[in-house]
Amino acid sequence: MTKPASVGAVEELPREKIEHFDRELQAILKRYPPDRKAAAMLPALRLGQEVFGYASPAVQRLCADRLGVSAARAEEVATFYVMFHTEPVGAHVVEVCTNVSCSLCGGERIFEYLKKKLALANGQTTRDGRITVREVECLGSCGTAPAMLVDEEMYERLDVQKVEQIVGGLK
Ligand code: FES
Repeated sequence: MTKPASVGAVEELPREKIEHFDRELQAILKRYPPDRKAAAMLPALRLGQEVFGYASPAVQRLCADRLGVSAARAEEVATFYVMFHTEPVGAHVVEVCTNVSCSLCGGERIFEYLKKKLALANGQTTRDGRITVREVECLGSCGTAPAMLVDEEMYERLDVQKVEQIVGGLK
């Protein structure tokens, strides 16, 4: 039997944001049977990331606490899926696929170009906190490679000029 996360473990999070999180989580939990709320871990973490900026260990503990599961369970999920950011990220997150199809169509070139242009290594954020660049696995858009996600919006059939335009337009 796993031990649920303790409430005290989330005290470092801003109270008003916790209240916001709790309100939104209640709406999500209406879709789950009361004895199955642990199954809401993905939407809970997604909500936590949206409210607090990233799925930090404290956010993971908050989700675990509210869903009545162990902190380890939340950590497992948060660290398994690449859409969860467990470290702080910039205002915009640019995720470039360099898996096989994208790589063959120029994905790696695009990724290298972006890192050079922004003077970043994989996973780093610009000094002004504006843009984080990450290399990711297949985005499910192999037929229209190369592809990248910007703040969860998909861009396909990319080349360096298009990437320049898209990233240049990020405020
Ligand atoms: S390999 Fe890039 S989207 Fe599938």
